[in-house]
Amino acid sequence: MSTKDTAATSAGAAASPSSTEPLRVGVVGLGFAGQAALRGFLDTPGVEVIGLAGLEVDRLAELGEKHQIPHLYQHWEDLLARDDLDAISIATPNQLHEPIAVAALEGGRHVLCEKPLARTGVEAEKIVQAAIDNNRVLRVCFNHRERGDVQVLKRHIDAGELGRIYYAKTHWIRRNGIPGLGSWFTSKELAGGGPLIDLGVHMLDMTLYLLGEPKVLTASATTFAELGPRGLGGSTYAAKHNVGSAYEVEDLATAYLRLEGGSVLHLEVSWAMYRESGDHFGVELFGTDGGAKISVRNYATEDTLRIYSDVGGVPAEVRPQVGRGEGHRAVVRSFVEAIRGGNWSEHVGRDGLMRSKIIDAIYQSALEGREVLVSD
Ligand SMILES: NC(=O)c1ccc[n+]([C@@H]2O[C@H](COP(=O)([O-])OP(=O)(O)OC[C@H]3O[C@@H](n4cnc5c(N)ncnc54)[C@H](O)[C@@H]3O)[C@@H](O)[C@H]2O)c1
Repeated sequence: MSTKDTAATSAGAAASPSSTEPLRVGVVGLGFAGQAALRGFLDTPGVEVIGLAGLEVDRLAELGEKHQIPHLYQHWEDLLARDDLDAISIATPNQLHEPIAVAALEGGRHVLCEKPLARTGVEAEKIVQAAIDNNRVLRVCFNHRERGDVQVLKRHIDAGELGRIYYAKTHWIRRNGIPGLGSWFTSKELAGGGPLIDLGVHMLDMTLYLLGEPKVLTASATTFAELGPRGLGGSTYAAKHNVGSAYEVEDLATAYLRLEGGSVLHLEVSWAMYRESGDHFGVELFGTDGGAKISVRNYATEDTLRIYSDVGGVPAEVRPQVGRGEGHRAVVRSFVEAIRGGNWSEHVGRDGLMRSKIIDAIYQSALEGREVLVSD
């Protein structure tokens, strides 16, 4: 498809903090994540989505028409060649995050990038450095921390109700949830890793966010690839375009992380294991004055949070009634607020970089069969 436009001639990119002009956004990637970000931008006041890029010709035309987006391109380079974009949203296979983000930031655009920020800490560092050097906002899309249960628990923890949290457990486990055997997700080159980099990054983010961003000091981990390489465990609900990739990544990762202050986090993530069917994630926190558990079965948004304490000297369990939260919409809104707010140097994606460095250490530990330091 050749829907290339002549590049627009209006003023340069990157709305200034004080600007009352609409923020002009281009969205790259038309899969689940790209469309979630697109909906977020379309719902955010003061934003105009002026361009879309993605390889699926029919979907591109359909989304362009449905949302009246004037400029449609198959390749991200053509979208970035425009000189009228203030911000770019990236939701492509992971190997493209770094080239697209660095090109966008160097071109003066603010960037919202899907998780993981990059395949490795080294790549993530290049993106963060480009945000710093060009004084632009970089935000990583950690939408699950915007869930209602997480937000309510965060407020409870920040009020000191759990005391000092010394032990945390987190998991995301599927019975048969490899997102497309043969797709980019199972290619080491295109994805950078398996469920650890795909799902584990969300659970690391959710847990470290709840804990108040403690430094992760060391990782001791093991990874397995038992079902995927035998063609087992493929998802029937998240089939992806087959690029003919061999199964080159893990299908299970388990890690023991030592945090500053002596606390510990245990992480367990898998796309496919012989267990009860479903797609389940959660966090358990154990503190000196209370505990809490978020248990999400098949993306449920109700009755997922428990808080444990003593009441009148006996064990008690509270089941807060929480809303569903806003996911991508909340992330997009905070991205736009950061741009409008003007303190751009405070929003350069450091949380995404730290998650990538922890994931590097987990893979290194699994490879070397020993506990390793997480690099600063
Ligand atoms: N935050 C979340 O909840 C969430 C959920 C799913 C995926 N993700 C992340 O979002 C990203 C995309 O995942 P997905 O499941 O949507 O993948 P997908 O394979 O469904 O979609 C990828 C999109 O990238 C486009 N693309 C590929 N190469 C391109 C190029 N050269 N130029 C322009 N577009 C190109 C494809 O055409 C496609 O539209 C990944 O980084 C993934 O980790 C996040």
